[in-house]
Amino acid sequence: MNFANKRLSRINWERYHNPKLIEKYKEKAIEGLTTEEKDIIKQYCHKFLKKRNVNVLVIGSGNGREIFGIKNEFNVNWKFVGIDYSLPLIKQAKEIRKKFNIKNVSFICKDITKIKLKKNSFDIVLAFNCFLDLIIGKNKEKLIKKISEWCKPGGIIIFNLNRIRNFLPEMFIKIIRKDFSFVIIMNDEIGIKTAVNPLPSFIYKKIIFKKYLKIIKIILCKHTYYIVCTSIRN
Ligand SMILES: C[S@@+](CC[C@H](N)C(=O)[O-])C[C@H]1O[C@@H](n2cnc3c(N)ncnc32)[C@H](O)[C@@H]1O
Repeated sequence: MNFANKRLSRINWERYHNPKLIEKYKEKAIEGLTTEEKDIIKQYCHKFLKKRNVNVLVIGSGNGREIFGIKNEFNVNWKFVGIDYSLPLIKQAKEIRKKFNIKNVSFICKDITKIKLKKNSFDIVLAFNCFLDLIIGKNKEKLIKKISEWCKPGGIIIFNLNRIRNFLPEMFIKIIRKDFSFVIIMNDEIGIKTAVNPLPSFIYKKIIFKKYLKIIKIILCKHTYYIVCTSIRN
């Protein structure tokens, strides 16, 4: 990993262990799914909604917001595995699970780039609001390959990415297109360092995903791209 990527990894790790952020996330778990997330899951995971024995992997699951949100919104019997490298957030998730006696949900505290999971294990893989954290450095291609392998044939993979392209001059965009791990470090609304990605969707389509994932749809909602894929092996 080069110096810039190491620094970015460090910034991300520190961010998700910062007590201010951990405190703020408590409210987020209760907020549940956003309207866009609900619509996208309804539309692209509809074939699973009535099924039992559906296995769902949630990457960067934080304190379980999307897992509890899906259970609440769709009343599904799916089996969830949430993976996150932030122990304080995993602890919050486990507390919520216990408090509301939520079944069929397990949380693992691990770095997703280092974890080994069985191939063809999941019907759905979700990575909401964490994909940028994951695709830095040399790991990105390896991780995308692994995600495509963890997903069963016919399964659905959904990522999202923030877009701030409109704030950048066109010339600048042209330069950074060459390096698709490019990010901007800035302070978020509570003053914690965060990384945002200025690249337009076609870069992901053409460069990052083409080998391992087949893009079904890219949906732009406000400042976020939702990228719905299946594994290329399907
Ligand atoms: C912005 S939060 C999103 C949490 C949750 N998905 C949501 O939308 O509410 C990003 C999450 O990704 C996790 N994360 C970042 N890099 C990770 C890695 N390499 N392995 C596991 N988790 C990671 C962070 O700890 C954090 O909980």
